[in-house]
Amino acid sequence: MITSSKQKAWSKAIATPATEFDSTFLSIIEGEIPTDLRGTLYRNGPARLSRGQQQVGHWFDGDGAILKVDFTDSGATGMYRYVQTQGYSNEQKEDAFIYPNYGMTAAGAFWNNWFKPLKNAANTSVLALPDRLLALWEGGKPHALDLNTLATIGTDTLSGLEKKQPFSAHPKVDPVTGKIFNHGVSGGANSTLNLYRCDSTGKLEQQNSHTLSGLPLIHDFCFAGEYLVFLVSPVRANLMPVALGQKSYSDSLEWKPELGTEILIFAKDDLSLVSQGKTDPWFQWHFANGYVNNEGNIVTEFTRFENLDTNQYLKEVASGYTETPSKGTLWSLTIHPQTAEVINNKQISDAAGEFPLVAPSKIGQDWRYTYLNVHRYGVKPGQELFNAIACFDRYTGNMAITDMGDNCYPSEPILVSRQDDSEHGWLITVVFDGNTDRSEVRIYQSDRLFELPVCRLALPSVIPHSFHGTWRQK
Ligand SMILES: [Fe+2]
Repeated sequence: MITSSKQKAWSKAIATPATEFDSTFLSIIEGEIPTDLRGTLYRNGPARLSRGQQQVGHWFDGDGAILKVDFTDSGATGMYRYVQTQGYSNEQKEDAFIYPNYGMTAAGAFWNNWFKPLKNAANTSVLALPDRLLALWEGGKPHALDLNTLATIGTDTLSGLEKKQPFSAHPKVDPVTGKIFNHGVSGGANSTLNLYRCDSTGKLEQQNSHTLSGLPLIHDFCFAGEYLVFLVSPVRANLMPVALGQKSYSDSLEWKPELGTEILIFAKDDLSLVSQGKTDPWFQWHFANGYVNNEGNIVTEFTRFENLDTNQYLKEVASGYTETPSKGTLWSLTIHPQTAEVINNKQISDAAGEFPLVAPSKIGQDWRYTYLNVHRYGVKPGQELFNAIACFDRYTGNMAITDMGDNCYPSEPILVSRQDDSEHGWLITVVFDGNTDRSEVRIYQSDRLFELPVCRLALPSVIPHSFHGTWRQK
């Protein structure tokens, strides 16, 4: 970890490995827990970025830990546990990083690392199934955890994944049928895009595959009405140095704008390819949502970056100091489903933001409000982590932004819908307060973000900045 006067307050949250805690009553700092907020928040993120003198190579390398917060009539309780992957357990025993990962090669001479598999960091997101929680990671199988104790049960095949089929970290749950859609890219000189449909219990019931050119980086996809849409950015991994242990996967990624962005549209019914096309080059990690409009065209919304510098910025986060400018903004892309022809492609907000989300009831359907992380007014993207949450109104183009105060860093906001209006409700975010070096849960009213939070709950130890979470209604 770099120590410098230039470091921002956020770096303190990841300066040392996070500390687990067992079920702990969370005291109220201010406000009250809403009486209709009953259920469980789960969040996942990289919690250990160092072992002794060893540092991870990239923020994505940190071992995953799950934060669980239960809201009941008696108050809120929290729990925080590392996912006990095989790699994590082995490294605990050795007290050393011993595996290659997304942004790091394995320790030791590179000839000892030929074709060594990456460690499954289990650090990206969570999926709450009726009988278990899945800790998700893009490059491998999910890990199943006990929903109540967060005890790790083991890797999970969803009753059908084959050995080399990953189950990525951005599954989409169809609010109409409860079916779960996801993808996973299996490696190779020409890689395979695996498509999955599971029933609502997480049992794999259908799959298909599509051959890709080279090995691209496909983090997320868009669920839009009857379609699954993939926008394959012009990034390709140069695999040989990775296989030989000379370079990490992240360092092998090459930006190839001449390839453009490939559009792949699949039918939700049978996962078959409907159309494919090509458009301008850009990079995106995350989609907000998508739907089919009245003209029968697909509309997708996502956070667009102009190149892959965002990956360098995220690598620098792990060092505690960032210097690479990285600005993603919301864009809307309209595509003809049968031809993959681009009808419209436009920026809809110039605010730097990420982690866009919509109400779970609106996934794949027309919607109005996108919730996301943004910067406070006047903050230059690239120097700070996100320090505000926002609600973007797609009908008016307005963005309502919280002011969390100096040195406070919220996670992705999770919406808990209210009964009479599913696009509004309580927004829950986990905040690291760099003034006090403590973490807390904050609950906001989603349509009154300019007001103070309705409740703040103290967490017993620092929760490092996390990636994604979910809400399980009681
Ligand atoms: Fe993500």
